[in-house]
Amino acid sequence: MKTIIEPFRIKTTEPIKIITRDERIAALEKAHQNVFLIDAENCSIDLLTDSGTGAMSTRQWAAMMMGDESYAGSRSWKKFERAVKEITGIQHILPTHQGRAAEAILATTLVEKGDIIPNNSHFDTTRANIEFQGAIAVNLLCPEGRETGKEAPFKGNMDIEKLKACLQENNQEKIPFCMITVTNNTGGGQPVSMENIRQVKRVLEEYDIPLVIDACRFAENAFFIHEREEGYKNKTLLEIAQEMFSYADAATMSCKKDGLANIGGFLICNDDKWAENFRNLLILREGFPTYGGLAGRDLEAIAVGLMEALEYDYQVYRHATVTYLFDKMIKLGIPMVRPAGGHAVFIDAGKFLPDIPWSQYPGIGIVNALYIEGGVRGVELGSVMFGQKDNGGNEIASPLELVRLAFPRRVYTQSHFDYLIEIIEMVWNNKDKISGYQITYQPEFLRHFSCHFKKV
Ligand SMILES: Cc1ncc(COP(=O)(O)O)c(C=O)c1O
Repeated sequence: MKTIIEPFRIKTTEPIKIITRDERIAALEKAHQNVFLIDAENCSIDLLTDSGTGAMSTRQWAAMMMGDESYAGSRSWKKFERAVKEITGIQHILPTHQGRAAEAILATTLVEKGDIIPNNSHFDTTRANIEFQGAIAVNLLCPEGRETGKEAPFKGNMDIEKLKACLQENNQEKIPFCMITVTNNTGGGQPVSMENIRQVKRVLEEYDIPLVIDACRFAENAFFIHEREEGYKNKTLLEIAQEMFSYADAATMSCKKDGLANIGGFLICNDDKWAENFRNLLILREGFPTYGGLAGRDLEAIAVGLMEALEYDYQVYRHATVTYLFDKMIKLGIPMVRPAGGHAVFIDAGKFLPDIPWSQYPGIGIVNALYIEGGVRGVELGSVMFGQKDNGGNEIASPLELVRLAFPRRVYTQSHFDYLIEIIEMVWNNKDKISGYQITYQPEFLRHFSCHFKKV
């Protein structure tokens, strides 16, 4: 069949409010030109994130009714632990309320001032948690990952030579662990190959440095490996995921992505001492180790969701939706990160608006135009989200200026995407009218969430 249908029927609906263009202009004005500060009900198609925004299945809702809300040692915890162990094979499992809580525990217990943490690309919360400890978060993405227009199967790979150089140049005491993010959200949702994970592990072993996987989209990554890497066609996605985790000493996870849940996360590791330290902080910050800030019903939903994310038909449908939008945008001539990512499409904002310098945040111009024209909410992944300061305190550009349209899981249908294409085409055809922005207020960390802008 040429048409790939959603492998589910819709049983519950949620109304979408459609407000006028003038109302959207007013809403954006009230939100200081930052779409993070807009009321969600004023967004018609909300592609801000794929995190926690998915629809749960009947099996998940049914499981939630079985939630055991006992404080300690609940049945729901056992199901959660069993599911995570089956997929990862990792010994110590600590539930957390979401991914960044796992990152915070990891960073607080293991990272010290002046340490260096390599990654293919740190996600913003990962970077922030590391920098909060006074350490340096280093991105060692492979060269093709930085070329948005270049087609390659595994553009999320770590640059092995750069990793070797980083380990040679720095005292290994300064590198408590190395991370690898699958798929690589900030670099366009691009996958990491099994071969690359294996090589990273091999290099780290020489220096006795543990590998921590940022596993938010482990199932999407497993699907890419199945489709693109030799030797994996006859393996199930579960078997591929199991192999990926077999190279890890620890992992952080946001179950709001490939846990197909609206909240939740975990931190897992094999080392007993690490686990003890993690657990002490977990009790202080999140809760008792058998619930970690989650309700029993959340643990149930995640236990089912993690397995559903590894269903082949679900992944085929998910990737078909991303590719559907991506192909249409390519046809319009829009500069995109190629090939399509796993959870989102990424517009190359620098090429979309070549006359707007990075210091005037071209990504914000596109994000705001999409909102005004069609109530579509996307997000900038560029010099606002990832801008850094040099030693003199001057802002330096992010290597890429991107706009991400992330796909909530099992939420929007083909007609939503057809509407989206019309809006994107309108914005593309009127790109000369888009202006740059400047920041008028920003907090110290994670500024993109709450900073204020004004048009230049
Ligand atoms: C790669 C990656 N790591 C970590 C996180 C943080 O997870 P959470 O939002 O659950 O805190 C995210 C969230 O988008 C992510 O994409």
